[in-house]
Order: sequence, then C-alpha cells, then structure tokens
Amino acid sequence: MEKRDIVNKLTVAVIFGGQSSEHEVSRVSASSIISNLDSEKYYVIPVGITKSGKWMIYNGPIENIKNGEWEKFGTPAILSPDASQKGLLKLVGDKAKLIPIDLAFPVLHGKYGEDGTIQGLFELAQIPYVGNGVLSSSVSMDKAFTKIIAKNAKITQAKYVEVHSEDFNKIKSIATKIEKKLGYPCFVKPANAGSSVGITKAHNKDELIEGLKLAAVHDRKIVVEEGIVGREIECAVLGNGDNISASCVGEIFAAAEFYDYDAKYNNSASKTVVPAEISKEKQDEIRKTAIKVFKAVDGSGLARVDFFVEKDTERVIFNELNTLPGFTPISMYSMLWNACGKPMNVLLDELIDLALERFGVK
Ligand SMILES: Nc1ncnc2c1ncn2[C@@H]1O[C@H](COP(=O)(O)OP(=O)(O)O)[C@@H](O)[C@H]1O
Ligand SMILES: [Mg+2]
Repeated sequence: MEKRDIVNKLTVAVIFGGQSSEHEVSRVSASSIISNLDSEKYYVIPVGITKSGKWMIYNGPIENIKNGEWEKFGTPAILSPDASQKGLLKLVGDKAKLIPIDLAFPVLHGKYGEDGTIQGLFELAQIPYVGNGVLSSSVSMDKAFTKIIAKNAKITQAKYVEVHSEDFNKIKSIATKIEKKLGYPCFVKPANAGSSVGITKAHNKDELIEGLKLAAVHDRKIVVEEGIVGREIECAVLGNGDNISASCVGEIFAAAEFYDYDAKYNNSASKTVVPAEISKEKQDEIRKTAIKVFKAVDGSGLARVDFFVEKDTERVIFNELNTLPGFTPISMYSMLWNACGKPMNVLLDELIDLALERFGVK
C-alpha cells in the first residue's frame, strides 16, 4: 500500500498464531478479523507468530493465514519494547526498518496470547491494544486464580480443590481428600491450558490419579472440580470500566461426554445454539453475572463468560472466562453479538474504539 493511502487511517497490527495449543484456531480467528476490518478506516499489518515463536509480517492472501502457508512468505519482524519507537522492526539482512503502529490487535488464544505476557510487551512499548490488560488476562487464564477472585466476589461456582504436582508424593491421600469433598464424577484441569487440553472427567479413584498426572504434564498447578450436571451457556461482554454490556446468551451441545478438544474442533455433531432457548429471567441473571465476573477480574474490552445452568436446581454456576475468545465466523463470541444486531465489522470498530478510549487516545 502506498504511503498516501495510509494517511488518516489507523495502523493496526493484527497479531496471530502464537506458541500455544490454540495456534490453528488463532489463524482462523485472525482471518475473519482481517477480512472484516474496514479498509477505509484501518491500515492492517498482519503479524504472524509461528508455533516456535518466530515473528513475521505477512502481506498476502488471507487464505494463507488460515491454511498456515503464510509462514513461507513472511518477513522477519519484531515488536519493539522501546516506547520511543512504538512500532514493529522489520528485519532485512542486518538492517531494521521501523514501521510505526497505532494499535495492536492480539488475536492469540491461550498461552503467551491470552495470559498477559504479550499484553506486557504492549504496555512496555506504550502501544494501545485491544482487549484485557496484563492482570485481567493472567488471572483469567489461571483457573485457580479465577476461582479465588470469583469466590471473593461471591459468584457461584463449582466446589473445587487446588493441587500442586510437587505434592504428588502423597497423591493417594490427595485423591482420597478430593473424593471426600467432591465425589464423582469430577473434572481434573491444568490451571493454565485452554481448549480442554489436559482436562479429564474422573469417575473413580484410579481415573482421578491418572487425570492428576495428565494435568501435571501441562501445569504444576491443577484444579479439580465437582461435576455439574446441566446446560452449558455462554455470554459475551463488551465494554470498559462502568460501561459494560452483555449479549444474549448461547448454548453449547457437546457431541461427547463433555466438551473436550475433539468435541470442540473435530466433531461436527457438536452444536451451538444462538440465542439459547432459556427463560428471560434466567438470561438476565446470566448476563448480570457475566458483567459481575468481568468486573471482578478488572476486565476491559471483551470476554466470553461461560456458565453451567444446573439441571435440578437451575442454579447459574460460573465456569470460566475467556479474555480472547475465538473469532471465527462460527465462534460463539461473534455469533452472540451478531444476534444482538452487531455484525462483525461493527463489533470490531467498537473493540478498537474501546482500546483507544482505554489508552486515552480517543
Ligand atoms: N465442573 C464441571 N462440571 C461439568 N462439566 C465440566 C466441568 N468443568 C468442565 N466441564 C466440561 O469440560 C469442558 C472444558 O472445561 P473448561 O473449564 O471450560 O476448560 P477450557 O478452558 O479448556 O475450555 C467444559 O466446556 C465442560 O464441557
Ligand atoms: Mg471452556
């Protein structure tokens, strides 16, 4: 693009890929974001991060972002932490060319994308960015810390036990304690993972011990929760400070015993229903609770907040929040706002405005 075309446009670096188990999902999310960003308003610079952590600017067909081919055509570039530069350093040979940017849009899920680490880099660089800050990202990524915060804010959640792998020398007695407190089935989760990676449902002591060992492959910190029987309902939030809105709610129907990785990404029999068939009262309760959770973690920009509605009691039970939810055309976050009359391009404008507002640029 010629220089004269980018005058008056906001230069947005859309960062995708990354070193997490959700690398592929991120590429699909970024493809739909890039195609929906208004080219009259934004000059988009796609920046990909490979699975091994290499950064490259990629200017080419969006299709290649989706299928992974972009890596062959990228030019090495890094985001400078130097706040006097506020931009990307394109590396050609032994030279670095500064490309100033106005805003970063991290479209990275999971580790190093949704956990506050890359947000820390934007803070150092003093570059405004879309979404949650360092603290809200990291506490929302860590299921054990999310639980502590939710408990403090008196938000209903499943009973749980936190376990550390360094205590595995007494794993049998840990398992006995857990089964006494939670019973079966229970869910064993690494505190930091995502996409259901490392999560198992344990029906007896042997499975519980196996589940603890498997979760420990992903994180030394593990959360075990009582199994909730009920519907899985999700709500999208958007806003900053005291001005936060919640969308209508959607429902997940997992084509498996629970919504594991395969049911999420490979099993086409899993279904999402937007809006969920649920009473207006329940919906309002969920929306209110979603905003409460978002405020409790000091969220900004966006989040998808996930709940169970318990079968027998109709209790609304908070499960987790995702500070950078999927953004594919069939992702719950964008579908929920679309159902409320906000198509993706409008949603993206609002997210960018919220970012600029948060950093006092607007
Ligand atoms: N306490 C629970 N009771 C019942 N099902 C659960 C429970 N915790 C998790 N699950 C099931 O496991 C899935 C993944 O768990 P979740 O905590 O959402 O992890 P992730 O962050 O990987 O999405 C949920 O969508 C749900 O199907
Ligand atoms: Mg989940």
